[in-house]
Amino acid sequence: MSRNMKGIILSGGAGTRLHPSTISISKQLLPVFDKPLIYYPLCTLMSANIREILCITTPESQDNFKKLLGDGSKWGIDITFEIQKNPNGIAEAFKIGKNFVGNSPVGLILGDNIFYGSNLEEYLTIDPINFKGAEIFAYQVPDPQRYGVVEILDNKAVSIEEKPSKPKSSYVITGLYFYDNQVLDIVNQIKPSARNELEISDVNRVYLEKNMLNVKKLSQGTVWLDAGTTTSLLQASQFVQTIQERQQIQIGCPEELSWNKGWISDNAFYKFIEYAPKNNYGDYLKKIWKEKLI
Ligand code: TTP
Repeated sequence: MSRNMKGIILSGGAGTRLHPSTISISKQLLPVFDKPLIYYPLCTLMSANIREILCITTPESQDNFKKLLGDGSKWGIDITFEIQKNPNGIAEAFKIGKNFVGNSPVGLILGDNIFYGSNLEEYLTIDPINFKGAEIFAYQVPDPQRYGVVEILDNKAVSIEEKPSKPKSSYVITGLYFYDNQVLDIVNQIKPSARNELEISDVNRVYLEKNMLNVKKLSQGTVWLDAGTTTSLLQASQFVQTIQERQQIQIGCPEELSWNKGWISDNAFYKFIEYAPKNNYGDYLKKIWKEKLI
């Protein structure tokens, strides 16, 4: 049994709600304030101590993702790539990623989801050796009827409903999911939905029926954003800008995360500074280097 939790970032999709901006470039490569969108979910997986990551992209944009992320070694992680030919649904990630997942548990994050919170790392810490079932993350919103809604009792899901007109709760399911290795079998049991997609909610429903769908409520101090529409993409940029400038921090900075976790050496971090862009991002890397030396 492998001891590591593997991670998948699902970065395909059509991105039609962002057309024309996403006709020639993937949504997850668009900037959210000062860095590409995919940096944020990448850092969320890294915060969960996941170091083996599969990035699933459209056929057209894979080279661009490779150019941006490389093999991950600069951040002390291992990034590999696979293609999703058509947007056949979120759960298809486990068919595409079967060999990558092997016999490990796996975390899946949607490439356009941003999570931020000072205590987020605690929420995400999962013991991969004893992990059983599934764990999803629920967030309280004022308009649950727009999302997948989950009813929760004692940290277990008791019902899930897709975009219900009368939601049974105000908690909705976010784009971050952890599964034990059963998910590879479960995805073979489910059938495409009416919109011809392999739905992640159908995977979750199988775990629910086994009473194995655990739910963690994200506190109101945590922020969850999805950058799928022009408005939410702009709001995400504004949010990141405001927090970063006010708190003098960086959200979604893999260089800092990997250095803090001891995944790269001081020398390796210093290399980032030597080649740092002449902008706020580069200045930030220099600032944290100086602070650590004091
Ligand atoms: P969505 O926002 O549901 O879909 P989309 O990105 O294709 O956008 P639109 O509705 O505007 O056409 O997808 C959420 C995330 O999951 C997003 O990062 C893309 C990814 N995704 C895939 O990679 N493959 C898929 O088959 C689906 C459905 C989504």
